[in-house]
Amino acid sequence: MDESGKEWRCVGKVEELARKKCQRLYSAGGKTWDLALFHSKGVFYAMEAWCSHLGGPLFTGDIEDYKGRCHVMCPWHGYMFDLKDGSNEIGLKQEVHDVKIENGDVYILYRTELSLTAPE
Ligand code: FES
Repeated sequence: MDESGKEWRCVGKVEELARKKCQRLYSAGGKTWDLALFHSKGVFYAMEAWCSHLGGPLFTGDIEDYKGRCHVMCPWHGYMFDLKDGSNEIGLKQEVHDVKIENGDVYILYRTELSLTAPE
């Protein structure tokens, strides 16, 4: 674990996760810490799940090309967030997290365990 408390968390197989463009990852730390996992043009991106505008679920958003970069469009009011750095044209910001692929598995550098299924 590094000093920020983050560790590489395995979230599943590339071949399975790549089937969906957007999905929710449930955090062992509770809903606030859930992430949205995006897959676009062969690349995975991890971003905090809830929109920094008014809390819309970004894991149900659409992925769009916008000004030459991949963005997610929030389903609630349509604001766009850059998948790479979480930035937004009017100054909103989503936290993004590093993703790596190792031996066919997807890992996210994160502070809690993550799961594709909701905790009981
Ligand atoms: Fe996402 Fe308003 S809640 S754009």
